[in-house]
Amino acid sequence: MGQQRDILVTSALPYANAPLHIGHIVEYTQTDVFARFQRMRGNRCIYVCASDAHGTPTMLRAEAAGVSPEELVAEVAAGHQAVFDRFRISVDNYLTTHSPENQELTASIYGRLVDGGHIHRKTIKQAYDEEKAMFLPDRYVRGTCPVCHTPDQYGDSCENCSATYTPMELEDPVSVVSGTTPAVRESEHLFFKLGNFEEELRDWVPRHVDAALARKLDEWFEAGLRDWDISRDSPYFGFEIPGETGKYFYVWFDAPIGYMASFLNLCRRSDLDFDEFWGVDSSAEIYHVIGKDIVYFHTLFWPSVLSGAGYRKPSGIIVHGFLTVDGQKMSKSRGTFINASTYADHLEPDCLRYYFAAKLGVGADDLDLNMDDFIARVNSDLVGKLVNIGSRCAGFVHRQNEGRLTEELPGPELFEEFAAASEEIASEYEARNYAKAIRRIMALADKANQYIDEEKPWLKAKDPEQAATVPGIATLGLNLFRTLMVYLRPVIPGIAERAEAFLDIEPLMWTDAQTPLLGHRINRFKAILERVEQKEIDAMIAKSGEATNSEKAQRDESEQIDFETFSKIDLRVAKVLEASYVEGADKLLKLRLDLGDDTREIFSGIRAAYKPEDLEGRMVITVDNLKPRKMRFGVSEGMVLASGPGGEEIFLLSVDSGATPGMKVT
Ligand code: MSP
Ligand code: ZN
Repeated sequence: MGQQRDILVTSALPYANAPLHIGHIVEYTQTDVFARFQRMRGNRCIYVCASDAHGTPTMLRAEAAGVSPEELVAEVAAGHQAVFDRFRISVDNYLTTHSPENQELTASIYGRLVDGGHIHRKTIKQAYDEEKAMFLPDRYVRGTCPVCHTPDQYGDSCENCSATYTPMELEDPVSVVSGTTPAVRESEHLFFKLGNFEEELRDWVPRHVDAALARKLDEWFEAGLRDWDISRDSPYFGFEIPGETGKYFYVWFDAPIGYMASFLNLCRRSDLDFDEFWGVDSSAEIYHVIGKDIVYFHTLFWPSVLSGAGYRKPSGIIVHGFLTVDGQKMSKSRGTFINASTYADHLEPDCLRYYFAAKLGVGADDLDLNMDDFIARVNSDLVGKLVNIGSRCAGFVHRQNEGRLTEELPGPELFEEFAAASEEIASEYEARNYAKAIRRIMALADKANQYIDEEKPWLKAKDPEQAATVPGIATLGLNLFRTLMVYLRPVIPGIAERAEAFLDIEPLMWTDAQTPLLGHRINRFKAILERVEQKEIDAMIAKSGEATNSEKAQRDESEQIDFETFSKIDLRVAKVLEASYVEGADKLLKLRLDLGDDTREIFSGIRAAYKPEDLEGRMVITVDNLKPRKMRFGVSEGMVLASGPGGEEIFLLSVDSGATPGMKVT
């Protein structure tokens, strides 16, 4: 191994106005695996994070809850931190951006940008809510798209035609905060001149993000780097801009500075040196792990701000995609918008870490949490292959050798083969190709199991002539188990810790894979990981759906639809003419529906709840004007309505006799 490296890693700072969900865990897993791996390699790796406190949503949510923004932030951030603990995210410091360190750094960075000529003033027109006496961020104005005339669109872009515009261009704009029609007011804002850094960025960006992303960024360069509005008018929850009255820093200006602030806060409590990491001559490495939605901020604004303020730029921006659940965007009503704490109430956090890591490659592709796949993968890989080796071998060491590993291995080859994989696996972790590292490690796990299957210690133990070889076989088996734990420890630290307790050893380091553990007393094997059961998943989904009900009362107005939108949904009575299984699809039934003047074919995910023969002749309700959807098994021309959390608990809505196929549902 080379010289010890100094590395600082960060995860994006989660907003302090909502709890963490399992999508966030993708990011913390990606970051934490890297940090833990680096530490096991003997590098000094510091991992900091914080909650992102400022902005209009925090202000309004605090107001709605009847608390101060500071109180809301403190409470939510404490919840974030608890989730970090439960998921074993090994941050060295967790702060909030509403901290003295952040205020100090933000003011000083701003001052340097002013001195460097990177800030200018411009008067702009903005939507203003007279009743609330506040300027409205784009997302707090809704109205009809000026291009395609779709109602109820956000003030910045149209979901239907993707047009972008300003809130004032909307037809019939409405303030989300008060429901009144916003006025237009002028106000002077402060802008950061991003264009000043164009040349520097064009050189820097392609060398610090992966190739696919560099191409995307090319488009942004072509579109031109526009000045960035970094100020907001009062009332706003944020830091006041020094030298101005009633002006605050925009949340996205001080948020990335929060990375530095969290680190500074740690420096002041330890012997770490701030400038050693952030000074222009720093030889330390700095990596920011982020989701694909916040690339612009991290690859263009942030490096420019750093450069303009006389700091070094990051060594790399690591970008991941978004999490979907069972192939769809996480949804509160489907119970797939799963809070991280709800997951941890039902299941072992290491299992989710493992599942995500096994899917994380180098690009920013989205990744799917498929519940069936999750159960299969955890039970087969972690329980069936990994933990099983330990439990299979431990008994022999205790019964045949008084709990002591033998002094020698029966043969060095297999152990050496495992040891020899070390650098290859390390380079995959280093490149953040965790999926590949895990494939390689699991192939080794297969070999370890194969070895035990072939040696059959359970038979040899009963044969007086061969019984003496059994402790050696078990010792080798346990050494392979230990090597696998070395390699997987960055991903499943909790399981690794329990394995260390069982083997009665110090926390494993990467080099431990090179030397076998011999002549050592081990503890009795205690369950290291239980199988995941379907009922635990069901309970978690049910719980996640439940939260919706209590939240319904205070549902965000932005989630409401108006009557006009609702009335566009054409609901019809339909009669099930025929229902059949779909080959290869274990969740679907194919239904042929009679709609009076027409028949339809649709696929419905109700197989666990209904037998085809029970459905024929039944009167159901269907969404008649849903765009046909192409599925793997054919085109689905609509959907039938049902209620319930899913799986076996799904209940089709039906109508009383008297209704006839094709009747409109009102
Ligand atoms: N506060 C900003 C980040 C400021 S960093 C200086 C923010 N917060 S967030 O809570 O919305 O998101 C935090 C991180 O979680 C982001 O990197 C975001 O991409 C990531 N994710 C949020 N939802 C996600 C999924 N569904 N899937 C994967 N990552 C997701 O943005
Ligand atoms: Zn439109």
